[in-house]
Amino acid sequence: MTEAILLVGGQGTRLRPLTINTPKPMLPVAGVPFTVHQITRARDAGVTRIILGTSYKAEVFKEFIDASDLGIEVVIATEPEALGTGGAIRFAAEHLTSGSDEPVLVFNGDVLSGLDIEGLVAHHQRTNSDVTIYLTPVEDPRAFGLVPTDQEGRVTAFLEKPTTPEEIVTNNINAGCYVFKRSVIDQIPAGRVVSVERETFPQLLAGGALVTGVVDPGYWLDLGTPLAFVQGSKDLVLGHAPSPAVPKTGDFLALEGARIDASANVHGGSVVGRHASIAGGAVVNGSVVFDNAVIHEGARISNSIIGDGAVIGAHAIIDGAVIGDGAVIGAHNELTDGARVWPGAQLGDTAIRFSSDR
Ligand code: GDD
Ligand code: MG
Repeated sequence: MTEAILLVGGQGTRLRPLTINTPKPMLPVAGVPFTVHQITRARDAGVTRIILGTSYKAEVFKEFIDASDLGIEVVIATEPEALGTGGAIRFAAEHLTSGSDEPVLVFNGDVLSGLDIEGLVAHHQRTNSDVTIYLTPVEDPRAFGLVPTDQEGRVTAFLEKPTTPEEIVTNNINAGCYVFKRSVIDQIPAGRVVSVERETFPQLLAGGALVTGVVDPGYWLDLGTPLAFVQGSKDLVLGHAPSPAVPKTGDFLALEGARIDASANVHGGSVVGRHASIAGGAVVNGSVVFDNAVIHEGARISNSIIGDGAVIGAHAIIDGAVIGDGAVIGAHNELTDGARVWPGAQLGDTAIRFSSDR
């Protein structure tokens, strides 16, 4: 039996306004809450019990898990206040049943990957590591944790979100999945905020622990920003990213009750949510249209997220934007390049042009 901890307590700040009502891992991606892709991948890799480390909007997870059967035992741990990544792992560990030498998987809750999970655990066991970290190479590592290793794969440093050029020592980053020896988790201080990246890993290295890195160059994406969120959804729908929870791969995915006019053009891995409607002549390319949204005739939507129940007016152009739940965008508006509209906001039919580089 393998146990895992899934960290899902972050506030998802970079995905606002979508995360005002819904925590990031519960946002729908390719037809199901994102967390379902991760839980079912772990299940298929032999994980039999998973602890969800929740904090922000914990009740949303609880309601969903109570109502679902994902074929794996899911336990919800809710921190009294956000304890940071390390504090959350320590807090969730109260629910583990594994023995002190047994391996425990830990996953960040916003990562989509093709990682060979069983292979990572096997490597951890074979090397008798204290911690094994999944690494992936990226072009620009600055937004992540940099993890240099020596020739034997031993981790030599852990540099979270480096700020100086001298710290950019590798392109291999912490890909957000670890195997811990249970006893190592038990050594994390309880009852206070701890960052596993800034405190636990540097301390383990300073104390001579065996921390091993495994580079896996397969599919990897952190869905923390709107553009990455849209990319992850597209990749799942198109079948480029692996998940047992995608209902059907293809050029687009229309969920139950979605209505798409015969003269609309929906493609590029788009998702049309439950009871959403796309009118004639509208184009939806590489976008995520949440449930109940209404897209009027001739609107053109690309690389964007349209919130639950939002309304997009006729001939509006939405490109690289995030439209909050229930927002109403009048006809002919142009919202591009990082524009974000808050839930319930209304923009009239006055052909506003708005873009932002954020
Ligand atoms: N329960 C709980 N409590 N979970 C938390 C907390 C907390 O206080 N803080 C963050 N988390 C969860 C988030 O929900 C997310 O799933 C995960 O921990 C990582 O937090 P992010 O906020 O997404 O961190 P990041 O993307 O900036 O950086 C992390 O991930 C990168 C890879 O995607 C770090 O682990 C980096 O080192 C890593 O490269
Ligand atoms: Mg992240």
